[in-house]
Amino acid sequence: MTTPNINAALKETTTKSGIERDERLELSEQLGLILATSYALYSETQGVHWNVVGPMFYSVHKLTEEQYVDLADSIDELAERIRALGFKAPAGLRTMSELSYIDSNIDYTNAVEMIQVLVNDNETLSRKIRDVVKLAEAHDDVKTADLLTERIGQHEENAWMLRSLIAE
Ligand SMILES: [Fe+2]
Repeated sequence: MTTPNINAALKETTTKSGIERDERLELSEQLGLILATSYALYSETQGVHWNVVGPMFYSVHKLTEEQYVDLADSIDELAERIRALGFKAPAGLRTMSELSYIDSNIDYTNAVEMIQVLVNDNETLSRKIRDVVKLAEAHDDVKTADLLTERIGQHEENAWMLRSLIAE
């Protein structure tokens, strides 16, 4: 009788999806950075939802809730795509903040300033995602390209809606 390998979950998974192992690894690493940045943006967006005050309170409070709920779903989807590619998904607050492209250093005081940070960070994330779409297409990973293309649309919409709130 063979002993079950309790460390099995820590090993990378061999898949026969038609994408080479090193390409899957590269895609997983890049997806990990997008995941971590999405995690940072999630936390930032929630911080604005909690702390905003002033005449825009209700609009900002509602909009940021819609955005962080969507981000939570996308974070899960990105992590599960990494797993389907055969690698470990980054997890934990410290790891996420180390891997994120955005620094999440908002002073949650001034409504206009905090919204501007969210606009910038949604745009940074959509630019970074665009690069990974190109990589996914180069490696013929249509699923990752599809998932990420959808995210670009969402982050562009987020930036537009937030920007419209503070337009003069
Ligand atoms: Fe809430």
